[in-house]
Amino acid sequence: MSNIAKNEIERAADLIRNGRLVSMPTETVYGLAADATNDKAVARIFEAKCRPQFNPLIVHVANVSMAQRYVDAPAMAQKLANTFWPGPLTIVMPRKRNANISLLVSAGLDTIALRAPDHPVAQALINTTELPLAAPSANKSGTISPTTAEHVRTSLGDRIDLILDGGPCRVGIESTIVKVSADEVFLLRPGGIARDEIERLIDRPLQTLESGSKPDAPGMLDSHYAPRSPLRLNVIAPDEKEAFLGFGPAHRDTDQALNLSEVGDSVEAAANLFAYLRQLDALCLERELTGIAVAPIRGEGLGEAINDRLKRAAAPLIR
Ligand code: TXA
Ligand code: MG
Repeated sequence: MSNIAKNEIERAADLIRNGRLVSMPTETVYGLAADATNDKAVARIFEAKCRPQFNPLIVHVANVSMAQRYVDAPAMAQKLANTFWPGPLTIVMPRKRNANISLLVSAGLDTIALRAPDHPVAQALINTTELPLAAPSANKSGTISPTTAEHVRTSLGDRIDLILDGGPCRVGIESTIVKVSADEVFLLRPGGIARDEIERLIDRPLQTLESGSKPDAPGMLDSHYAPRSPLRLNVIAPDEKEAFLGFGPAHRDTDQALNLSEVGDSVEAAANLFAYLRQLDALCLERELTGIAVAPIRGEGLGEAINDRLKRAAAPLIR
């Protein structure tokens, strides 16, 4: 199992049962996991991430039947889960009365965001503990999400009890988040499952929540996933003093450029996005470059999620 021995999982499971924090690989990004039924454990997540308390967490379950312990799933939500789980789709659903999930997890909302991760290590940890695991991305709040164990180590290493190394994440971008109410499905965050795949299944367009109203995905602060260097988007010709993040065949063969996908594949680009942003960010500091210029990226497929993350990364930091 991704080179992780059974006794590593046992050790991680013991830590989780004792209310400690474990970083686990998922197919999207690395998560910072804790027992979702334990208030203190959940509070430790917020503390480790320096995360504002109002930002609720995703709860990871093994499968649909485990999810049913915690939420009343509308028919449309069941259909989505049956199709896309395990996988990079998070579904926000009404919380069951008396659901044994810490109230801190949903930060005062009467809903819970659930997903079943498609990764053998995450699945093994859930199944071994038999617990729902609250897990945000394993990075400090507002910084780039980790797609390798090394990323987790550099950003949170001293604040976590154990990091399970499952190698690089296959999808590389966070899950798509939808909220399902009686008859409609709202897109709260584009992510690892493309909009059109979901729309095809539910046979209707995904709704968007009015911006400016009370945020339904309170985590969607404008600036997020931010590198330290400024980002300039939709750039065809970068300046000499800029690092360049390319996309598609117009390849720039310099030692300060990386290409998300030379063939212009949004799935490959998503998998590379966060690791490449980190590399170019480090390069900017090292060579005193002025920032990172990013090529235009088509919005189809996972392009919507990639552009969402890039837009946030380019927004000025709110601290
Ligand atoms: O792929 C992923 O989703 C990764 C891996 C670890 O599973 N997790 C992740 O978690 O990206 P995080 O905490 O970085 O983002 C969770 C998002 C936040 O924007 C939060 O506001 C939203 O989910 N969220 C959580 N519970 C919610 C709820 N009840 N209603 C609306 N939004 C919710
Ligand atoms: Mg995050």
